[in-house]
Amino acid sequence: MLEMKKPSVLIVEDEEDIRELIIIILESYFDLDFIEASNSQEGISRLEGGVEPTIIFCDYNMPGGNGDQVFKFNKDHANVPFILISTDSPSDHHELAGFYEINKGNEYIEKPFDSERIVQNIGQFLSNEQVEKIEFQRISINRVQKYNRQNEALYLRLSENKFVKIIDKGSPLSDSELQKYRDKSVEFFFLEKEAHKRMLQGSLKKMIKKIAGANNKNELIQIQFESVVEIQNAVKSLGVDEVSIELADKITESVMNEVSQVSKIETLAKELNADINTYKSSLAHIINYLSAGFCEHYDCPKEDTVKTLIKASIFCNISLDDDGLASFCHLSKDVLSLLEFEDRKIVKDHIKKSVKILNEGENQIKDVSKIIECHHEKPDGSGHPKGLNSRSLTPIQCAFILIHDFADVIIREKNPDDISALKIFEKLGEKYTINNFEQPYLALKKALE
Ligand SMILES: [Fe+2]
Repeated sequence: MLEMKKPSVLIVEDEEDIRELIIIILESYFDLDFIEASNSQEGISRLEGGVEPTIIFCDYNMPGGNGDQVFKFNKDHANVPFILISTDSPSDHHELAGFYEINKGNEYIEKPFDSERIVQNIGQFLSNEQVEKIEFQRISINRVQKYNRQNEALYLRLSENKFVKIIDKGSPLSDSELQKYRDKSVEFFFLEKEAHKRMLQGSLKKMIKKIAGANNKNELIQIQFESVVEIQNAVKSLGVDEVSIELADKITESVMNEVSQVSKIETLAKELNADINTYKSSLAHIINYLSAGFCEHYDCPKEDTVKTLIKASIFCNISLDDDGLASFCHLSKDVLSLLEFEDRKIVKDHIKKSVKILNEGENQIKDVSKIIECHHEKPDGSGHPKGLNSRSLTPIQCAFILIHDFADVIIREKNPDDISALKIFEKLGEKYTINNFEQPYLALKKALE
């Protein structure tokens, strides 16, 4: 009988650790062959040499030639699904024009990535038999020493559903023991699901720090805006009109007057207004202008809704002192779970604390509280604190999340002169267009035409 050829994955990535991490994630679920390349040229050589991967995972920024070279070669030849794993999105580079159209399987996974996205992505290209459905997850015998640093318990697979423990938790695996299993042609050890998850988290954590740069969260983001005028110009260039800018300024002023009745809040709100060159302040200003533009095209009592959204933007992060951490909050629940305990607690608690500060001010704030409670939820349920999704969030909550996440993309843009609304919508992706996000999405799109 002819043996069925295993599906294979080409991984083009200059960081060896990241390459291996992708492999560890994939091989714990799927029976695959892996072809590794440490730069674009090597990736292309492998393809020219006749390897026929089922799918390509490729980084963008690599020394000696970026990922677009592999993208182009693949497009002109086998055109297999191309998964860009990078801090840059396809819309950041004109070389990747038509990224999603060229092959419907093309996908973008932002770094630092969560393992589930990688798994979901490839799962759809494999047949059912190729997907492991067992309670244990495996790791190659060649990688176990490097990655199982916490010395999780290891198992061997005896038959389809039978596993036997060979190393207890806490006991390191010696070279000679490892060799013993190599001699018996053992290819994989198995870990209990939770242990495997812990092992991956340890490795992802290292990767996050690498991406955040110099282990310092405050260096993660460089705020581009020095003044309110610069922010106004940026939102104008995206399509927000003069009338909306004036309306946003007027309502912001009235909100600030209201809060000046409460001395503690006044100080906090003033701080937010004073220093534009912070993540929190830039974010609030951008949200305010976008909200006014948005309400022009959304079926709602205009001034009241603008006021509700502006209040939510001023108060949503008011309890967060650490601006570097504020810029971390948009990350998915999975990635946040990798932060240090203290930082994670601050991120988690800022939502409740902000609502509390808001409540000290006035009574008629139910709408605003409800929005702030959800401002880090995501359409696909990957947000926090509750993991709500586009069906369970109300339209007004969806509107704020959309505008908030849209503003976050603007702040992260490395070349502010280069941004367009279209690119930002593309970056946010399809998930912001469905269910209760649909109407807000159409209204914001209209405002930025
Ligand atoms: Fe927040």
